[in-house]
Amino acid sequence: MKVSVVGAGTMGAGIAQIAATNGHEVCLYDSFDGAIETAESKLKKILNRLVEKERITQQENESILERINFTKEIKNITGSGLVIEAIIEDLDIKQKVFSEIEKLVDEDCIIASNTSSLSIASIASALKKSDRVVGIHFFNPAPLMPLVEIIPAVQTSESTLTKAKSIIDSWGKVTVIAKDTPGFIVNRVARPFYGEALRVYEEGVADFATIDWAMRELGGFRMGPFQLMDYIGNDINYTVTETVFTAFYYDQRYKPSFTQKRMMEAGYLGRKSGRGYYNYSTENTPKINEDKELGQQIVNRILVMLINEAADALFLNIATKEDIDLSMTKGVNYPKGLLVWADEIGIKNILSQLEDLQNEYGEDRYRPSPLLKRMVATNKTFY
Ligand SMILES: NC(=O)c1ccc[n+]([C@@H]2O[C@H](COP(=O)([O-])OP(=O)(O)OC[C@H]3O[C@@H](n4cnc5c(N)ncnc54)[C@H](O)[C@@H]3O)[C@@H](O)[C@H]2O)c1
Repeated sequence: MKVSVVGAGTMGAGIAQIAATNGHEVCLYDSFDGAIETAESKLKKILNRLVEKERITQQENESILERINFTKEIKNITGSGLVIEAIIEDLDIKQKVFSEIEKLVDEDCIIASNTSSLSIASIASALKKSDRVVGIHFFNPAPLMPLVEIIPAVQTSESTLTKAKSIIDSWGKVTVIAKDTPGFIVNRVARPFYGEALRVYEEGVADFATIDWAMRELGGFRMGPFQLMDYIGNDINYTVTETVFTAFYYDQRYKPSFTQKRMMEAGYLGRKSGRGYYNYSTENTPKINEDKELGQQIVNRILVMLINEAADALFLNIATKEDIDLSMTKGVNYPKGLLVWADEIGIKNILSQLEDLQNEYGEDRYRPSPLLKRMVATNKTFY
């Protein structure tokens, strides 16, 4: 089956690499000057590095490249069984490109979007035959991150969903099915990892380095929240938070942080700008307050907020409990699924920590999910 990828930026080039590595004939298209050339030279470098590391042979390298048609002509997507769109995050432009794609492919071709924040229903509405549209959301870097969220829109047919899932499964990815709601699973459930850490900092409980230390050393996370925000980029991370906040009709739970906004405004974007919460141009290692009791309090506060978000996603049928847990371990490398973790800590304990926070602050931000309340009332666990 021929696979086409529309948009050859960070995500598109990675998706094309995966499809070609899995034996598909691939068409990678981009309309902007220089974009396709950049994608081709970057991909060649990546494949050469994989040969050096002995992950692929020189012959595999050559055949992967032979399978990809790098093109500036959209008409070359003709004959595809699957088209994945990964262009700029703009609904009007996506809708225009989708109707262009529809004219060039057969009726049974699946047309997917890699959008992070737009609704799949709104993108699908641009098509005459919208039941073949589905969200296929990869994580960056696409060839390395195992998770892919598959998002059926209200228009998506059962057969489109099944086919899309089985293609991505056959590429060795871990697929989860998510409802077409803001942030899908990962970008919704992960919000408190950043938001609550920022709040803890703003209250002066601890500095960035201490919060990161606590989350790594006592929480078991691979990176602390500030480290991770610097890695993602404060501009990108802030925009995701703001988009989710707006899309949820300003639910206080997702309220963005001024601290992060100021970092973005100052151009302290993180690693890519040399400075974020940390200064990457100095060798100085920041001082950490290794007070275990304080550290554990910080971990507990962020963790119960994450668990609350995961429980609420389950309550609202965003995904199954297994898929919610897989999403966080395979999409953002959490040490454990949040709902498995919740059972270990005890639902009653989590609920009482959330109720304490809500009573103390009087903010809707800390409202416990009704699911947690019901579970405590009936003495249930997630698994
Ligand atoms: N970067 C991430 O971490 C990430 C993760 C998951 C999903 N996404 C989503 O993937 C999509 C692409 O993101 P990205 O980070 O790869 O962006 P990017 O800016 O790196 O690449 C976008 C590419 O699309 C091309 N493009 C723009 N308009 C076009 C058009 N009309 N026709 C053809 N090509 C066009 C641009 O030339 C560019 O090469 C977005 O929808 C984004 O939300 C991004």
